Amino acid sequence: MPGKYGSRNMQGNHRVGEDDPTAIGLLKAEHHVFRDLFDEAEAASPQRLAAIARELCMRLTVHMAIEEEILYPALKPVIGDDEVNEGIVEHQSGKCIIAELEQLDGTEELFASKVHVLGEETVHHIDEEDEDLFEDAKTAHKDGEIDLDEIGERLRARQAELYDQIATTGETGRTNEAQPDEVERA
Ligand SMILES: [Fe+2]
Ligand SMILES: [Fe+2]
Repeated sequence: MPGKYGSRNMQGNHRVGEDDPTAIGLLKAEHHVFRDLFDEAEAASPQRLAAIARELCMRLTVHMAIEEEILYPALKPVIGDDEVNEGIVEHQSGKCIIAELEQLDGTEELFASKVHVLGEETVHHIDEEDEDLFEDAKTAHKDGEIDLDEIGERLRARQAELYDQIATTGETGRTNEAQPDEVERA
């Protein structure tokens, strides 16, 4: 039975629509995985929680990297800076908690709270992407201003590359994400 986050996966714009372009379908499907994992985290044993947190940190890191490298820059010229920059700032907040969690092993007093707060913040962020950013992007796609199918292929290829790198080295290696000073300048 889906929990409080996962129940949203089949509702409204959170659902993957039949006519969703490749990029939107791919990212929404990952949002579903995040909601389900954060639900599972709420009731998990400490040992299971540590494993869920590791998986979430890895998946979220790759997800944010491909959005920032490929999707967000493509959207800025067509839907404007504000919505995209808000996304980047929310990513940075998530990355801070992820960096902290990666230093912990799950036995610490604050571990579960950090995972919980990461969940609240992440679900807020992905809900907004599904409801606002992706809807605006789909309108631009329908108007022929961007090609979200082609962008989807690039997202998929980069995602596979980053997962391969993690599998071999344990890290993503060099990524081309938004830098904090880029947001401060904007
Ligand atoms: Fe995002
Ligand atoms: Fe996302």
